[in-house]
Amino acid sequence: MHVYIEDIGKHEGEAVTIKGWLHNRRSSGKIHFLILRDGTGFIQAVLSKAEVGEALFKAADHLSQETSVIATGVARADARAPSGYEIDVNQLEVVGPSHDFPITPKEHGVDYLLDRRHLWIRSERQQAILRVRHEIISAVRDFFNHRGFILADTPIFTPAACEGTSTLFPAQYFDDQTAYLTQSGQLYNEANAMALGRVYCFGPTFRAEKSKTRRHLTEFWMVEPEMAYANLDDVMELAEGLVVSVVGRVLDKRRRELKALDRDTSKLESVQAPFPRITYDEAVRRLQAQGLPIQWGGDFGGPDETTISELYDRPVMVHRYPAAVKAFYMKPDPVRPELALGVDVLAPEGHGEIIGGGERLADLDLLLKRIDEHKLPREAFEWYLDLRRYGSVPHGGFGMGIERVVAWICGLEHVRETIPYPRMLNRLYP
Ligand code: 4AD
Ligand code: MG
Repeated sequence: MHVYIEDIGKHEGEAVTIKGWLHNRRSSGKIHFLILRDGTGFIQAVLSKAEVGEALFKAADHLSQETSVIATGVARADARAPSGYEIDVNQLEVVGPSHDFPITPKEHGVDYLLDRRHLWIRSERQQAILRVRHEIISAVRDFFNHRGFILADTPIFTPAACEGTSTLFPAQYFDDQTAYLTQSGQLYNEANAMALGRVYCFGPTFRAEKSKTRRHLTEFWMVEPEMAYANLDDVMELAEGLVVSVVGRVLDKRRRELKALDRDTSKLESVQAPFPRITYDEAVRRLQAQGLPIQWGGDFGGPDETTISELYDRPVMVHRYPAAVKAFYMKPDPVRPELALGVDVLAPEGHGEIIGGGERLADLDLLLKRIDEHKLPREAFEWYLDLRRYGSVPHGGFGMGIERVVAWICGLEHVRETIPYPRMLNRLYP
């Protein structure tokens, strides 16, 4: 019977068939130890000459890394085996040969690996990351679905900027128009929230910034909730709830993968509500006290975010930034209009901003003024202005970048390993 390696425990003592690939191997004179993988896990298959006979034993001697094989044998519990089981093989069929697989257990440089990303993802570590990514995404969807948010997707081809004009990717749209790949679904989310109350969109977003940092991709996945009748505090509470829920789910379901990644899970266990909430003013004071050169009014760079996040054992929410460093759609603080009612959530251990959002500008005249100040084309935003003309209400939401969350939860230095095919300044292949 065909069994997936992750289910092998239910079949102890039975004859099972594993359909997979040869990951690694070693041999002693009379026994081959084949490490097989099938996408759900790894298992050692033991082939003894006495059991399988001379011919098969000899054939198995030449199998090389990533040969696809179907192995049948009896599942046996073995406390020393990583999966807890081994199989004693009595039949082995080669499905497809593999010669000179380019990624061997030795060390390779990261560019070499990225050029072969389509093969690199077969490694144990990359598989573990992609499984954690999957768990994070399903936890995000469950979180919103269970709280009454409606998934309402927003377009990828858009006529105008959402997050500033300098980071747009243009695309020729038939003969006479330029479309831009979306930077964020937010503006459409706001319209959807006025229709459906609480909504979210979840899709790829694009940023053409020529950043080569370990936190930037040109194509990344963002989940963006938006709520009608919500203020900045509601937005912070939602962000906190989401992050706690996602981390809890990964700890619950993906221990094996976190272990394969050598992740210190005690750091994740402390991700519990409430998260500290500090103002931008206070963040600047604390940075200055640590000797950083930041002045009031400036946006935080990577080192600033890292320093702030290292002050806490859980994510920290920094709110009320200077309006000048934030997007046109942010509501000014009624008490101090030079501040925007925005919030960034910074992940611990120096992983930087994972969430950005806040309360939106609901007032028509002020929004028009902002659009002009930011030199945005008013015509392109007429539909967005309509939301302020027809029953405008306080509302807000945020965007959470999936890759940065994966990097943090998996404890990765760089976001390039958090997505199957990363797109970066110098990388569009494979
Ligand atoms: O802070 P950002 O730019 O916010 C927005 O786009 C809002 N319109 C979202 C909203 O309120 N609906 O981006 C949100 C998050 C960041 O906190 C970060 O996690 C991620 O998206 N992000 C990136 N991730 C990878 N590579 C990049 N170049 C990213 N830019 C933003
Ligand atoms: Mg941001």
